[in-house]
Amino acid sequence: MKFRKKIVAGNWKMNKTLADAENLASAIKLDLAEYREVDVVLCPPFTALKTVGEIISDTHIKLGAQNMHWESSGAFTGEISPSMLRDLFCRYVILGHSERRSIFGETDTMINRKVKAALAANLTPILCVGETLDQRDSGKAGEVVRHQLIAGLEGLKDELKNIVIAYEPVWAIGTGRTATPEQAQDMHAHVRRILCEIAGEETASAIRIQYGGSVKPSNAAEIFRQPDVDGGLIGGASLEARSFVEIVRAAG
Ligand code: 13P
Repeated sequence: MKFRKKIVAGNWKMNKTLADAENLASAIKLDLAEYREVDVVLCPPFTALKTVGEIISDTHIKLGAQNMHWESSGAFTGEISPSMLRDLFCRYVILGHSERRSIFGETDTMINRKVKAALAANLTPILCVGETLDQRDSGKAGEVVRHQLIAGLEGLKDELKNIVIAYEPVWAIGTGRTATPEQAQDMHAHVRRILCEIAGEETASAIRIQYGGSVKPSNAAEIFRQPDVDGGLIGGASLEARSFVEIVRAAG
């Protein structure tokens, strides 16, 4: 099996004022500046990207955004373009998060445009997929995730070696209810099989698949130990330096 370096990203969502973001990034830096065993990414809100980017600029920690528009400029009030993220030295961008899909109506077609625009701008997309509780209970989880991947990655193949997938079951996000390590592994293996159909074995085996949904210091190690789980996308537990650092170290 190919070696895949684990990647842990903190999705701060709509949290942290500038001063709070500065404190959190500085505290994380104190612990992880020299840490190389795991790729670490911080995704603060847009307003804190510049400040957090400056704080971590002399470390191995990378900067990511939580969303972007697919066009490079124009009349899109309230939106942020790929080149604007590049301006701030972002390296990653979370796309298709379930909150973007369910609250803001993002479709697979929109997400596919964003993934393509991110890759074209040399940003690594973290493409989120995952089923709702209803979909899982009715046995449709595999099918839903398959559709999200096929539609979200439409028209892409070799470029996909530069992408990260995050499997985030909607029922596990912010609920305290985590997928069991077996549920996570089963779905991650399914995701990798689909990636293999889309992009071939070599590319599929290089793509990192994060798990997200109520990851905490107490459950991280067991989830990260699964063969197809290559790290985590962390929400609530990334808002505090100590718990985020513990989770990162659990991946190491
Ligand atoms: P929680 O870790 O708070 O469940 O959030 C997960 C998530 O949505 C990360 O993108």
